[in-house]
Amino acid sequence: MSGKLEFVDLKTQYAVLKDRVAERMQRVLDHGQYIMGPEVKELEEQLAASTGARHCITVASGTEALLISLMALGLKPGDEVVTTPFTFAATAEMIVLIGAVPVFVDIEPDTCNIDATKIEAAITTRTKAIMPVSLYGQPADMDAINAIAQRHGLAVIEDAAQSFGATYRARKSCNLSTLGCTSFFPSKPLGCYGDGGAIFTSDDALAQACREIRVHGQSARYTHTRVGVGGRMDTLQCAIVLAKLERFEWELEQRHALGARYAELLGDVHGVRLLAVRPDRDCVWAQYTVFVERRAQVQAALAAQGIPTAVHYPRPLHRQPVYAHLRREPELTHSVAAAEAVLSLPMSPDLARSDQDRVVAALAQALAPS
Ligand SMILES: Cc1ncc(COP(=O)(O)O)c(C=O)c1O
Repeated sequence: MSGKLEFVDLKTQYAVLKDRVAERMQRVLDHGQYIMGPEVKELEEQLAASTGARHCITVASGTEALLISLMALGLKPGDEVVTTPFTFAATAEMIVLIGAVPVFVDIEPDTCNIDATKIEAAITTRTKAIMPVSLYGQPADMDAINAIAQRHGLAVIEDAAQSFGATYRARKSCNLSTLGCTSFFPSKPLGCYGDGGAIFTSDDALAQACREIRVHGQSARYTHTRVGVGGRMDTLQCAIVLAKLERFEWELEQRHALGARYAELLGDVHGVRLLAVRPDRDCVWAQYTVFVERRAQVQAALAAQGIPTAVHYPRPLHRQPVYAHLRREPELTHSVAAAEAVLSLPMSPDLARSDQDRVVAALAQALAPS
């Protein structure tokens, strides 16, 4: 057995980018504008250009991006937001935090994204927004969702925490709806070295609202026009993302190549089912996730060979104690089934092909019929 693999290999990436990161950080330390320094605007311009959105507003985290977006839309206590239960807690948590109510709709069993065909039945007179999640790095069916939203006069917030860089019908994730929210958590496809996030929109008024809410609702210094939060992203973290952007296109190519290679190698492995990727979009594989039989045993077998795995996510949100009372479509069976079977394998742009082979071999061995 060789050494322990990294689940997300950030060390190799850092070794390659070390000088560029140091240079970028040193520049910030020299000019001393640690809050809202020039790198903030530089990053926002680059990210807006790369997604095609008219505005990018960097914020303190992906969670903060969701919160500020909901606040900018003016959601009030009692308003409803249709979303998926098969996601990280932050998606529903921010809806609840502002007093609104998440209404859970089941996922497609093969992509694990919200099933757009089930959304309309969940809409009531209180519904104000739809919040799909582009899970694992694959955009949800955003055009279908936007069409429903348009019919009912609703906003759409894409939780694109895992999908920065992905493409849907020749458009970029984060720029597929009213607002798009991403995360720069270190292990995300585009990560910083701490917390960070961004909101994208092409609506000028919403962009202005997000910018103000980010700084305690100030429309000018010490003029507090609305209620806001302390939601800025540090200049140093923006500088780090700027350094990482120089390699990002190459990294996306690697993610796509490694995803395709995993699919090819795992295609015939007994007991493994692959996540479907729709032909009109791609997946940037924030996590490379498959469905497996006997998951706990498989995880233990891989761990014994130094191969870390993770479960995104072991419980759908309607089964979490804090959200168990929330309204939902009667049956969320696909979310429940997915939570029992999903397994995320090591994935990062620097994953060596030989290590990927090792993961596949260990998985095949663990699942071999006895
Ligand atoms: C789907 C989803 N939404 C929101 C978030 C929150 O992002 P952050 O950790 O940057 O607050 C995450 C991060 O894990 C996520 O995966």
